[in-house]
Amino acid sequence: MANLASLAVVILAAGQGTRMCSNLPKVLHQVGGRSMLDWAIIAAQEAGAAKIIVVAGPHAPQVGAHVEARLGKGALAIQDHPLGTAHAVLAARDSLGDFSGDLLVTYADAPLIRAAHFAALRDGLDGADFVVMGFEAADPTGYGRLILDTDGALVGIVEEKDASPAQRAITICNSGVMVGPCAQMLRLLQRVGNANAKGEYYLTDVIGLARASGARCAMVLAEERAVLGVNSRSQLAQAEAAFQAAARASALQAGVTLMDPQTVYFSFDTAIAADVEIEPNVVFGPGVQISAGARIRAFSHLEGALIGAGCEVGPFARLRPGTSLAERVKIGNFVEVKNTQMSPGAKANHLSYLGDCLVGPRANIGAGTITCNYDGFAKHRTLIGEDAFIGSNTALVAPVRVGARAYTGSGSVITRDVPAGALAVGRARQQDYAGWADQFRAKAGARKAAKDA
Ligand code: UD1
Ligand code: MG
Repeated sequence: MANLASLAVVILAAGQGTRMCSNLPKVLHQVGGRSMLDWAIIAAQEAGAAKIIVVAGPHAPQVGAHVEARLGKGALAIQDHPLGTAHAVLAARDSLGDFSGDLLVTYADAPLIRAAHFAALRDGLDGADFVVMGFEAADPTGYGRLILDTDGALVGIVEEKDASPAQRAITICNSGVMVGPCAQMLRLLQRVGNANAKGEYYLTDVIGLARASGARCAMVLAEERAVLGVNSRSQLAQAEAAFQAAARASALQAGVTLMDPQTVYFSFDTAIAADVEIEPNVVFGPGVQISAGARIRAFSHLEGALIGAGCEVGPFARLRPGTSLAERVKIGNFVEVKNTQMSPGAKANHLSYLGDCLVGPRANIGAGTITCNYDGFAKHRTLIGEDAFIGSNTALVAPVRVGARAYTGSGSVITRDVPAGALAVGRARQQDYAGWADQFRAKAGARKAAKDA
């Protein structure tokens, strides 16, 4: 039966994350192009949380600013001193006010936990007052162990440092995610002490206290890879690998062709239609959407780009934010495109930079064409009309407009608008000096021969 109580989520994000060796607070490090903190916030939002409170430390103003920008001032609670996870949840007490629904506590350093995990945990509330998400650990070192009675009910959680050898042999561990009635959980949290190996107020002690007060406690199992907690760069890399593995699997399942899946990297929001073909060694930064039938060739890097049906991109192409390719556009090798709209059938096949540009239907951009869009202070637009033909190695000095059907001569520097249907040539005129090369060869050759003799 679905749980109908309203939900508050407290996300614990205090603590320095010193093992990351970073100036950036741990929870702002990214997995799949999204910060770990945002993964937690979005999971809470998708789980339908009526209230989300992030507990941050006083020494991480970046975390506070991030939370306020995303969720508003009321969503931030500060834990003055990191005295433990129970103490951290209590820092959110004022923000929770007299909230009467379920309280779910989760950690901001577990970037693979999703709304579905929260939902599974809440389903456990049908038969229990408190539910903890556990997992079977391949290596339980460092985790809290879940103590179950013979009926499988949860009796308590023992932190590794406080565990007896027999308890350490338990491999069912605490993920850190827990849910229970808000008011009751806050009452129990106030009774948690710190007489333990770390001298900390443990959130996990709530379970033993709940049991002692007659409450029923249960465990719901999650897969170990879903609850991976990140405390180091190496665990961050593991989380990224797990994210990528899942993203590749879901792309394949959705009908995308990946020639060598292990070499393709996705972002949290990469959206690829069925029957798109992706060659090896392609990286998708945030904000990429690709329509059916497009082909992304090897060694391309795409970010903030919309790719229309039937486009071909790469090999070795770079699409930067603000790029939008209509149907059947071709972007070839060593072409960089930024903040540029390419109309249907337009092509830039080789060695170009197109920045702040609007390219008309079927226009052809010759090899080596560069938009000179930046004067050191501001960016300027280049407008290229339909069926225009930009000769190889043209420099388009923006702001500038090339009319429909116009040609530019190869090697031109175009500084003025080109009328529709015209040819613009802006380069030095060729001069031929008859016989010069033969005379030069004869003279220089004779000089060298005399010297070598
Ligand atoms: C915690 C659990 C352990 C579980 C493990 C899963 C407790 C006592 N132990 O251990 O059972 O197996 O996570 O990864 O809860 N935090 C604060 N303020 C504090 C202390 C921590 O906000 O005063 C935050 C941290 O930023 C982190 C989370 O709470 O996001 C967990 O804290 P951490 O110190 O990493 O706990 P573990 O020892 O890993
Ligand atoms: Mg931890």
